[in-house]
Amino acid sequence: MSQSTRAADRGLDALGGTAAPAVAGAADNIRFLATHTLPAFVRGFVNARPTVVKIYAAVGQPAWSAATLRALRARHGGAPVLLKGMSGPMLVLLDEPELRRFYAEPVRTLAMDSPDKTAGLSVLEPTGVICSHGELREQRRTINDEAVAATEPVHPCGRDYLAVVADEARRLTARSVLDTPALERALQRVARRIVLGDAAADDRQLTQWLISLRNEGNWMGKRRKQAQAARTLYAQANARIAAYAAEAPAHTLAARALTHPDPDGSLDPIGQTHHWFLALDGLAPVAARTLLLIATHPAEQDAVLAEVSTVGGPLLPRLQACVRESLRLFPLVPDLVRVTRAESTWRGASYPAGTSVLVPALFHNRDPYRVSAPDAFVPGRWLAPGATGILQFAPFSHGGGRCPGENLGLLVTTALCAELLRANRLTGARPALPSSGPLPLLVDTAGIRLGLVPR
Ligand code: HEM
Repeated sequence: MSQSTRAADRGLDALGGTAAPAVAGAADNIRFLATHTLPAFVRGFVNARPTVVKIYAAVGQPAWSAATLRALRARHGGAPVLLKGMSGPMLVLLDEPELRRFYAEPVRTLAMDSPDKTAGLSVLEPTGVICSHGELREQRRTINDEAVAATEPVHPCGRDYLAVVADEARRLTARSVLDTPALERALQRVARRIVLGDAAADDRQLTQWLISLRNEGNWMGKRRKQAQAARTLYAQANARIAAYAAEAPAHTLAARALTHPDPDGSLDPIGQTHHWFLALDGLAPVAARTLLLIATHPAEQDAVLAEVSTVGGPLLPRLQACVRESLRLFPLVPDLVRVTRAESTWRGASYPAGTSVLVPALFHNRDPYRVSAPDAFVPGRWLAPGATGILQFAPFSHGGGRCPGENLGLLVTTALCAELLRANRLTGARPALPSSGPLPLLVDTAGIRLGLVPR
């Protein structure tokens, strides 16, 4: 362990000494804006815009950002670099000691509700845990942890959820071609049934309302004229959700949330469902990319087909490793952002309270200096003991802000892929990816098509 790593372990201001902050000059700020911040905004912070993703995939846009970050790291010796972010100064973390500290810091001091994030998310989940702070945040996090059973490898209502997945997968397995829109429709139904129950299964209008709110969230509150309409739509969606929740069976996430006491009405357990819908709907692109990677790697497909044919029960380690590896290669959340609540010192340099702090997770997941075979599909790396704790890889983040829905998300995605693979072998995958050689940093997910050949 390096000296700076040991110092980082000791806490927020522990690096000792004083140093001048590594502040980016005008040229670096323009480069960071042009290759990282602006492309992320145009792509959509909340709901990725398919057309933009397609163009970025074609031109290899994320490689521009990686080149910028690598150059900044080389120029500043790995020190955190202060750059201009969307909502003010942003400290970008580029080296291992700072990653360690980012995840070790309590969420009370290195807070989740950074201005960049809340500007977008508060449109669709104003009372969600990510947008909350202090004691209220902790109570809402508890509601989330309880409802999604964050610490359980298999959710106590997993049997009900797996039955829903199997039921919805039946509509997919009979097809000869599977594409992303079909996976999206199936997972939207899965989401409505898991969060609210079967009564909501056909309510596509509710999902459309939620998607409209996410699209508005992409504008990060910058379209002031649309703000009132978005608030009205949120209230409408919330009322619909509350009506379902009042009748929802006990196994649903909404019913589980409602068992949490809320004596003064401040916690808004139902308000948490908006993030659960965002996350569960987000499993469709994850499943699509996982299946695309499996289809492109014949040896991996053979191993996974053998597993799903022989292993019973919800835990399928090899297939789950494929899902995790697809998330390392193509994270759902490519940037992790926090905000400091007090003045803090990083590598001896002091930064005021209110500084945003960025971990460019995709960059670290694929860092060629720290990760072996960074651009290859190697699910086996997730089967090694302790793999899910490696800080370099953060598809679900780490520490106090780590995703409470990790196990549930993996359970549902793995189960859906397993249902498809029990019935079919995957062939003729599009877009074509190299089966050896570096994988791109982004794929045109909306354009994924997979041939299904009955086994
Ligand atoms: C493959 C699926 C998923 C991935 C890759 C994922 C990833 C993440 C990541 C990276 C974060 C941290 C965000 C940040 O630091 O800004 C997060 C937070 C969160 N996720 Fe997930 N997530 C997934 C599925 C789910 C599911 C299924 C649920 C619930 C049904 C969920 C609920 C949450 C919540 C409530 C938070 C906020 C935690 C907090 O503020 O403390 N996620 N997720």
